[in-house]
Amino acid sequence: MASLTIRKLDEALKQQLRLRAAANGRSVEDEVRTILRASATVEPTQGIASRSLDADPARDRETRPKRVLLIIGGGIAAYKSLDLIRRLRERGYDTRVVMTKAAQQFVTPLSVGAVAGEHAHLDLFDPATEFDVGHIRLARDCDLIVVAPATADLMAKLAQGHADDLATAVLLATDRPILLAPAMNPLMWANAATRRNVAQLRADGIALIGPNAGEMAEAREAGIGRMAEPLEIVAAVTTRLTPRAQPLTGTHVIVTSGPTHEPIDPVRYIANRSSGKQGHAIAAAAAQAGAKVTLISGPVTIPDPPHMTIIRVESAREMRDAVERALPADVAIFAAAVADWRVASAGVQKIKKGIAGAPQLALVENPDILATVAQRINGRPQLVIGFAAETENVVANAQAKLARKHCDWIVANDVSAESGVMGGDSNTVHVVTNDAVDSWPPASKDEVARRLIARIADALAAQEE
Ligand SMILES: Cc1cc2nc3c(=O)[nH]c(=O)nc-3n(C[C@H](O)[C@H](O)[C@H](O)COP(=O)(O)O)c2cc1C
Repeated sequence: MASLTIRKLDEALKQQLRLRAAANGRSVEDEVRTILRASATVEPTQGIASRSLDADPARDRETRPKRVLLIIGGGIAAYKSLDLIRRLRERGYDTRVVMTKAAQQFVTPLSVGAVAGEHAHLDLFDPATEFDVGHIRLARDCDLIVVAPATADLMAKLAQGHADDLATAVLLATDRPILLAPAMNPLMWANAATRRNVAQLRADGIALIGPNAGEMAEAREAGIGRMAEPLEIVAAVTTRLTPRAQPLTGTHVIVTSGPTHEPIDPVRYIANRSSGKQGHAIAAAAAQAGAKVTLISGPVTIPDPPHMTIIRVESAREMRDAVERALPADVAIFAAAVADWRVASAGVQKIKKGIAGAPQLALVENPDILATVAQRINGRPQLVIGFAAETENVVANAQAKLARKHCDWIVANDVSAESGVMGGDSNTVHVVTNDAVDSWPPASKDEVARRLIARIADALAAQEE
């Protein structure tokens, strides 16, 4: 195709093209390409104006490769964005890139352009692209916007609705889903201002992946703030861009997650090592499958999953009360590591170190939330699923627990110190039912969650048949 400079067309023709492109939801360049493609297939005697051109942007969107707009913010993790571009393109995503001014201090537009296969977009006031309001085109002409790394600064601007550079103008002008991959120093991430901005962005329906815990690029720094790895981001992109059936639409799913804290006195408590990662991943997978989700979480430090109601509790009794209030539900999944015991009478004041020696803590049993819900006469969820965290005889103990509690399934996992399950990102589980034990291979907690939700959807469908 001969090269064409749209800028050089006369004003009236440009205006016509702009209107036509806007009506078809395309960029001016894409509109010209469409016209040329169509004209190449018409009989020479037919004029373009008399043809009904492909004017169905929705159908166009379904058939063409998915488009990702990557915005690179100014953080050290920007170097990983080059790999991210490569991985996205490997998987067939058309990938355009916007770089903030600060990002250009960390990686060059030349490297980005070379990896992306087209130049990076840098400037809101670029005369070469803004003749047809290029930032609006960038904002709309994609299926998903990924911001990686999402700096504290970019998130603050996005939360406040700023639009003073190309990245923020595009983010404000888009109606496409946005996925942020934050990366920053752990203290920046923990800062109250960042916490407020993250909460606002989540409330605005913006999704986050990471940040992960680990070593920072800066020497001697570690904590929560590492950007999610490129392959994790690509997986999140694929999840969002692959049209999937939502088999749990119309169902209410309750998920409990995390540990409980049982007070000893106002400053001390009994807890366990549960991170909440598996329970939160299950809640996220249920929401992605279309369920209305109520996540009842003990104290955790991981991010809230989007698109669900989250109820925060501390103790087992608070968790039980929250579950009772959240019922009725179609499915209840009890993934929380609820403390079996609490202190019989927690001190109202801080217990003092005294001459009488160490205090004797009498323990009493906590309510059994799983058994209570599984044995409800009225309003029992169709599926009640418990978790068994075991350090030995994993399957046998889970079978005994299934019989004792009268729930439908037990998801059993080995939480011995060597397994690394408590607090880790992967899990090896056995799904124990009255008829069978299904042992799944080791997988990420996200993958275990997706598989469990798929199995739940199958079971509900089978009950309906
Ligand atoms: C060496 C260096 C590393 C930085 N790393 C980060 C980072 O990882 N995350 C972050 O939020 N800000 C980081 N900053 C600060 C941002 O670059 C700064 O806030 C900038 O204004 C962000 O601009 P942008 O959000 O428009 O890209 C870093 C700054 C410097 C000098």
